[in-house]
Amino acid sequence: MKEYPFSKGLEDVPAAESVLTYIDGQEGKLYYLGIPIEEWAENSTYEEVALSLLLRRLPTKGELKVFDAALRSSRDLPEEVIDFIYDLPPQTHPMSALRSVVSLLESYDEDARRDDLDAKFRIALRLIAKFPTIVAYFDRVRKNLDIVRPNPSLSHAENFLYMLTGKIPTKYESKVMDVALILHADHEMNASTFASMVVASTLSDMYSAIVAGIGALKGPLHGGANEAVLKMFDEIGSVDNVEKYIEESLAQKKKIMGFGHRVYKAYDPRARILKKFAEELSKESKYYEIAVKVEEYMMKKVAQKGIFPNVDFYSGIVYNALGISTDLFTPIFAISRVAGWAAHVLEYLEDNRIFRPSSIYKGELDKKYIPIDQR
Ligand code: ACO
Repeated sequence: MKEYPFSKGLEDVPAAESVLTYIDGQEGKLYYLGIPIEEWAENSTYEEVALSLLLRRLPTKGELKVFDAALRSSRDLPEEVIDFIYDLPPQTHPMSALRSVVSLLESYDEDARRDDLDAKFRIALRLIAKFPTIVAYFDRVRKNLDIVRPNPSLSHAENFLYMLTGKIPTKYESKVMDVALILHADHEMNASTFASMVVASTLSDMYSAIVAGIGALKGPLHGGANEAVLKMFDEIGSVDNVEKYIEESLAQKKKIMGFGHRVYKAYDPRARILKKFAEELSKESKYYEIAVKVEEYMMKKVAQKGIFPNVDFYSGIVYNALGISTDLFTPIFAISRVAGWAAHVLEYLEDNRIFRPSSIYKGELDKKYIPIDQR
């Protein structure tokens, strides 16, 4: 049998070429289109980041204006889709609700039946516009609250918070949400982006590709970790219990949520930005105190192994301080990352090749078939 190099989990196996995002895992640096993440967080908006990723360059003022206007006018959902949200059982996980609603939206989009990249770009725009609406509508419906229709005079981040809470957020709250969305917009060849690309590479439709991304992001080893972090803080309970909890967890080889990364072997630059917001928003809170202590102790225990806080470690505290339910944390990640998924799909389809890895067969060959009544 032919021998192939094998890397479990495809670790360090390049699967595509891209100009979108570069991560320097050793130095803890992240760049979109060659521009450091700190600069995007400081100077840009989520709308501009999303369009830049889709275009693979900074847009002109005019292009951004047109894109922003199109986002604002594409936010609402078909009434039949809203009815479907009302019919979802309230115990549905919001990520599952998002996945199901995105699937359904395909039926209402003529562009889903077109193959050209322009149609896929338009779908990407519509999905970026609609993701916050889906999440906010589902959250309000399950809490027996009236849905709040999108307000086209508000920015993407502002409008999301408005649809969730029914109140226009403060400038500071909007800035925090906008930066959180900027930080999560893309991250090179991660599991959910790869899932989207695998589906797109079969020349399936854009909706199926994005649904695959949502499914992959839901897992606790990927996007679901931010929910798990807050649950872990609840389990720890108090600052005094941090050392004992970590010692016991490490002894049992249990992962500390919000720590470690396949690529970063240094402090995740996104975590550093979110830590500042967490401190500003909830310095006095129990969660923040526990988080700082967990970080301090973990640094002593495992930093030498290259395990540092990742983006999920502080994002949950920030969202919690904004009054957002814990199970919406991963959907917020998806609201942002949909831009990255779509951008990678569009980039890959320009020179597509179906993903078809191989596996190493470990079984026997030429065995005899045994009839069922003789087994
Ligand atoms: N807590 C304690 N130890 C850890 C952690 C952690 N969070 N992460 C890694 N380690 C240890 C492992 O036990 C292992 O130790 P060993 O060599 O003594 O056996 C070593 O570090 C390597 O761990 P792997 O699991 O092989 O590292 P990998 O690169 O495959 O995993 C992952 C990365 C999945 C993110 C892992 O660190 C993890 O599960 N972290 C917790 C979940 C989490 O926060 N996920 C969010 C990731 S960021 C994102 O997706 C947005």
